[in-house]
Amino acid sequence: MQENSSQTRELILAFESSCDETSVAVIENGEKILANVIASQINSQKRFGGVVPEVASRHHVEQITLCAEEAMTQAHVTYADLTAVAVTYGPGLVGALLIGVSAAKAIAFAHQLPLIPVNHMAGHVYAARLVKPLTYPLIALLVSGGHTELVYMRTAGQFEIIGDTRDDAAGEAFDKVGRVLGLAYPAGGKIDHLASQGQDSFHFPRAMIKEANYDFSFSGLKSAFINTVHNAQQRGEALSHADLAASFQASVIDVIVTKTLRAVKQYGVQQLIMAGGVAANSGLRDRFRQEIAQRDLELDFVVPPLRLCGDNGAMIGAAAHVLYAQGVRGDAHLNADPSLSFPYLAANTTK
Ligand code: KG4
Ligand code: ZN
Repeated sequence: MQENSSQTRELILAFESSCDETSVAVIENGEKILANVIASQINSQKRFGGVVPEVASRHHVEQITLCAEEAMTQAHVTYADLTAVAVTYGPGLVGALLIGVSAAKAIAFAHQLPLIPVNHMAGHVYAARLVKPLTYPLIALLVSGGHTELVYMRTAGQFEIIGDTRDDAAGEAFDKVGRVLGLAYPAGGKIDHLASQGQDSFHFPRAMIKEANYDFSFSGLKSAFINTVHNAQQRGEALSHADLAASFQASVIDVIVTKTLRAVKQYGVQQLIMAGGVAANSGLRDRFRQEIAQRDLELDFVVPPLRLCGDNGAMIGAAAHVLYAQGVRGDAHLNADPSLSFPYLAANTTK
C-alpha cells in the first residue's frame, strides 16, 4: 500500500527542540521541504562533553523565534498560508521540549491554526517521506543517541516495537567510547571517520547476535572497549585509535545489520527505513547495501540524507502531515512528555 500525496497545498510549520538542536521547518504536503532551519548547540555543549539540559533550554529560548522567522522567510509564506503548526512533545529533555511546545502553542493560538503533537521518534521514521513515499508494511530501524529500536509499521501511524536496546543506545555507545579516545561530543561521526582508516583487529563481542529476539545490548561492548584501552595504558602500550574505532564499529554494525535483516525476512516487508543520528554512519549504510545486494533481497532500503538523519524540524513536519490526515490534534493543555513512547503516541491528544 503506497501513500497518496494530497492534491491541495497543505503547509505545516514544524518545531523541534527535544535535545540540542533548535529547528523550525515549513513542509508542503508532508514531503517537500520549503525551509528547514537548524540552530545547533554542538559547539556550546562540546565543552561539557555532552548535553547539559539547562544549557540546552536556554539556547532554545534564544533561538526558537529567530528560527521560526527565518523558516517563514525562506519558505516565502505568511501565517495565513499555513494549514497547521506541529511540535515535538516527547521523548526528550523536558525543559528543552517545553520551549518548542510553548512556541508552537502560542503561534497556533494566535493564528487560530490546528496544533499537531508529534512523537520525536515517529519524526525520525517519517523523515524517509522526504526522500520517497513509504510502502507499508515496513520496518524502521531507529538508531540515535537515545534509542536503538526496530519498529514494525503495518500501516501509517501504527508503530509496533519489535526490538529495543536493553541498556545503552547505539549513539550513546559511540559517544562513550569516543570520550575514552579523547574525542569531543558527539563522537559518532569522528569514530566513523577513524574506523574507515583502521581494521577490525580487536574482535570485540557481538552481543545477543544469535538470540532469537530483536533486542540489542551495547554496554558489554563498551566495557570490553574501555578495558582494552585501560589495560594497554597500564602496560604503557599505545593502541591504534583507528583499529579500536574500526573494531568497535564492526561489532555494532554486525549486530544491527544481522538482527535487522532477520526481522525484515521474518516480517516479510519490502521496505526498510533507517533513521536517527547513527543512520549517518557510513559503515552502517555501506554494510546494509552490501548485504542486501549479496543476499539478492528485494528490499527498498531508504536512508534519509545526512542533514535529515539528525534532529530537524522537517521530519516533524513530515510526521505531522500523516497525523493531521488522521485527525490528531493537540490543544492548549498539550504538555511536554519526556518519556513518551510509541504505544502512547496518541496520549495528550484528542482524536
Ligand atoms: O538523532 P540524533 O541527532 O539525536 C538524538 O535524538 O539522539 O542522534 C545523535 C547521535 C549521537 O550519539 C551521535 O554521536 C550519533 O548520533 N552520530 C553518529 C554519526 N553521526 C552522528 N554515530 C555514528 N556514526 C555517525 N556518522
Ligand atoms: Zn533524534
